Amino acid sequence: MPAIEVEPQFETLLSGYEKDRSNLIPILQDVQEHEGYLSEDAIVEVADHLELSPNDVFGVASFYTLFKFVPPGRCNIKVCQGTACHVRGSGLIMEELSKKLGIRSGETTEDREFSLESVACYGSCALAPVVIVDEKVHSRMTSKSACELVEESE
Ligand code: FES
Repeated sequence: MPAIEVEPQFETLLSGYEKDRSNLIPILQDVQEHEGYLSEDAIVEVADHLELSPNDVFGVASFYTLFKFVPPGRCNIKVCQGTACHVRGSGLIMEELSKKLGIRSGETTEDREFSLESVACYGSCALAPVVIVDEKVHSRMTSKSACELVEESE
């Protein structure tokens, strides 16, 4: 297997953590924050740093829903599934967006234009149901207005 070239930024990130397996989750969170997801290369590098096997690292990471293993799309769409949004129809919004984009929650379109995810309460319950597009909160959404947001982002 050819050696993986580690980006200097990534090396700096890892060097900030002691080689202690209790640092695994914080490192993975840090990597995801910087890279947007956990790539295979990143998993191998983290495993190497902590002297674990990549399978162990992947096993732990895949246990937590917060970690993503596919790169995010150019446009990231989050649908709040907290209680207030749920009772006001966010399930239907997710269903319609899913149909429109041809992907399920947690996936990215093949052309990497859009990614879709369910999130827990976003802290904007008074505006429910909310859809978050690239960190901008859109309030009182319907499946129609959510689909229009996608069209505007194309
Ligand atoms: S439940 Fe959706 S913002 Fe709180």
